[in-house]
Order: sequence, then C-alpha cells, then structure tokens
Amino acid sequence: MTCLCVPALVLATCAVPATPTGLHKPTGLLVDGHQLSTSGTRGKAVAARAGMSGMDGGRREQEAAGDDGSVPRTGSDDANGDAPAPPPPEPEPAVAPDAVINLELGDPTMYEAFWREAGQRAEVVIPGWWGTSYFSDAGSRPCWFLEPELEREVRRVHRLVGNAAADDGYHLVVGNGATQLFQAALYALSPAGADRPVGVVSAAPYYSSYPPQTDLLLSGYYRWAGDANALDDGGDGHHIELVCSPNNPDGAVREATLSGNGKAVHDLVYYWPQYAPIAGAAAHDVMLFTMSKITGHAGARLGWALVKDRGVAEKMVYFVDRSSIGVSKDSQLRAAKILAVVSDAYYDDDGETRLRIFDFARRRMAERWGRLRAAVAASGGAFSLPEETTGHCNFTKQTVAAYPALAWLRCEKEGVEDCAEFLRGHKIVARGGEQFGGDARCARVNMLDRDAVFDVLIHRISSL
Ligand SMILES: Cc1ncc(COP(=O)(O)O)c(C=O)c1O
Repeated sequence: MTCLCVPALVLATCAVPATPTGLHKPTGLLVDGHQLSTSGTRGKAVAARAGMSGMDGGRREQEAAGDDGSVPRTGSDDANGDAPAPPPPEPEPAVAPDAVINLELGDPTMYEAFWREAGQRAEVVIPGWWGTSYFSDAGSRPCWFLEPELEREVRRVHRLVGNAAADDGYHLVVGNGATQLFQAALYALSPAGADRPVGVVSAAPYYSSYPPQTDLLLSGYYRWAGDANALDDGGDGHHIELVCSPNNPDGAVREATLSGNGKAVHDLVYYWPQYAPIAGAAAHDVMLFTMSKITGHAGARLGWALVKDRGVAEKMVYFVDRSSIGVSKDSQLRAAKILAVVSDAYYDDDGETRLRIFDFARRRMAERWGRLRAAVAASGGAFSLPEETTGHCNFTKQTVAAYPALAWLRCEKEGVEDCAEFLRGHKIVARGGEQFGGDARCARVNMLDRDAVFDVLIHRISSL
C-alpha cells in the first residue's frame, strides 16, 4: 500500500518492497549522548549536552565548560570537541511603546523565556555524519520515517499528562507540523471512489486556516464546505468534520456535531494543562498534536497524529511520503530531546522543578488572562471576552480554569462593526472574526507572544 517516493539513487541501492520496513535502517539510536549505530557503522553518538543553567543559562555553562568554551559531550566516542560553544542567550527584544504589535498569528514566543532558562539541558548536538538516510528505524510501524526516540518521548509525555490514550494501540504518524497532518488526514479519510469531493466542515467559529488549507490544491477528494452546523452533504451523509478542542479561536471545549457517514479529525493541539483542564485521555480515531503549542517550538515544524486504524495511518504516511518524503530527522531528534526535558522534570524525583513547563506556562497564562480580563472589565463595556470556564484537571489534580492560547475579543463599542479594523487603528494587529466563519465584531488575539508585547497589549486595551 505504501509507496515510497524516493530518488532513483536510493531505489537503486535498496530492494524496494511494497513498504519500507525491512530496508536497512539505523538501529538503536539514542539521543541522550548514548550509542547510535547504523548498519555498517560502528557505534557513534549523538551527544545532547548535559548540565544545568541558572537564570543566565548558557553563559554560566559556557564559563563552566572550560577556557575554550567547549562543552563536554556525554557518551560520545567521536563527537567533535572543537565545536564552537553556543552564543550566550540574547535578551528579549524590547518593544517601543508606540510600536505596531502583531498578534494576528498564534506565534508561541512566550516559551522562549522558559527554554532560555533550560539552557544546555535542552540542547542537541548532531554529528555531521548522522541522518544521511531517508529512513528511520521504524520496525513494523507504519510510519517509516518516524525516529524511535520521538515516538518514545511522544508516548511518554501523553502518559505523563493523561490527555490522550496514546498507548492503547494507537499508531503514531509524524508530520511537518499539524498542518501537514491535517491535510494527510483529509486525504486518508476521503471515501474511495466517490463521484464528487467529500465536504470538510467545522463548527463556526473555526480555525481560520482550515478553509484555505483544505482547498489549497483543489483536491478531487475533498473540499471545504463551511460551518458544520449548516452542512449540506448532498444527501449521502459523507463528510469530514474538523473538531478543534479546545477550539481556536474561542477556547471552547468541543465534540463532533455530526454523525451518519461522517468522519472526524480531532485537532487537539491545545489540549495541554497550561491551556485547559485535562478531563481525561482522548481516544478519538485521528488526533493531532504539535510541538508548536505544547513547548512553543513552532519553528521545528513538527507535529504528530495518533491514529487508531492502521489503514488510515498508512494512508497518512503515504501522503507525507508523497508530499515531503518524510520529516526532518534533525527536527525529530530535537523534538525528542525537548519532550524528554519536559517529561524528566515531572518523572524524576530530583527533576528540576523550574523546568516544569506546564507549571511555567500555566502561571504565565493565569497571569496574562487575569490582566486581560481586568483590562476588559476596566474598558467600561467596550470589550467582552468568553466567560471563564473551570473543570477538574486530572494532571494537576485540582479544579482549574481554562486559559486559552488565543483570546476571542468582542468589540461592544457603539458604531464599531469590525473589531480587527478598530484594533488596527490602535496599532494592534488581530485576526478578524469573519475569517473564522464568525462575527466581524470579534477578533482573535494571540496570548502567547513575549512578555514585552503582551504588556503593550494590556496597556493599549486599558486605554481604549
Ligand atoms: C488549531 C490549530 N491546529 C493546527 C495548527 C498548526 O500547527 P503547526 O504549527 O504544527 O502546523 C495551529 C496553529 O496555530 C492551530 O491553532
């Protein structure tokens, strides 16, 4: 079923089976400074730097590392000790009080402060020889380009948080962000042999990227069909519903609205304890997650899907294979390391409590939402926000409030019909409600930017 779309060079050197399993691939790769061996290659190492930093992170480690600034690599028999030490962390960029602040995208730069603190704990050093193959050591798993370390750490972090039944027979498919996996899922779930494209819907307000991503290539298999609450499925009951929970843009906890011959893709990229109470382990057919929202590594372009049915997983793998021949191994390795740091801080008794990312992010989000709600309350009715919701969180074992990564701000001012336009007039760039299939009086504002930008936002909202 799986068709490997690899260059002739690779095809010539491999006996190409119907699936890539069985090809010679790296085995026994470990990230954390341990043995890495490939067929025909004796033990090598990918050395992740150890050592903890203080507030000034990398600089102190650099000093501790030696006169030449080189940092010891653990467990490496040939890692190059002459590699230059990383530059000391730069201070967060300042924001001029009258600057235009762009909060239109969900850029998660808030997390930069956390990872500066983590310093070299979260670094990965990748030797030049490593990662020349398209293949990973996937064994019999459907995703032949999935690095085993990443799989291990993804399952481990889900086990830690309890937000998805990742161990219950789910297949893992890695992708270039949740964005690629969302398209892979549409491809995999489209009914075979249909005489017209299946409709793709999501209840409004929906994530504004769903329509353009669905229709980017005008696929013959699927087409954007708008609001799930106004579905016209042509009478055959076939459709694919995108269920984003907590929802982008309004943070609502959602369930699929449609049934019949419908299939659902659950976009759970915000279902982490910093944004929402973890009510239980989600166990839907296709669930999407991304580094962009759990740890803030949007630039890694790395997401994963947990897929119940092997056939669906194989089709998703085929899509990623055909569109990008897999996913950067460097990125996978880095994501595995980052996730390991996340989990270690909770699993290890002597784990560094200040490396507990969910604690860090929840504190920040609670503080930010407190300030935003206070500013909105002080606006004298000029703005409103969705009501705060609370629930029991199985992860924190407490009743906690939800702190969405995005604020769905409604402009209640007399005469203002377009909230995004109004905000733009005050140098706040937000995404207008109509792009979400919603009301133009609403606009979506990113809550995950750096502190300095958020401070300006609060100052501006308070003065409107
Ligand atoms: C609901 C939702 N799904 C998917 C994505 C895309 O994630 P990625 O950066 O992994 O492509 C985003 C990004 O903001 C999102 O908000």
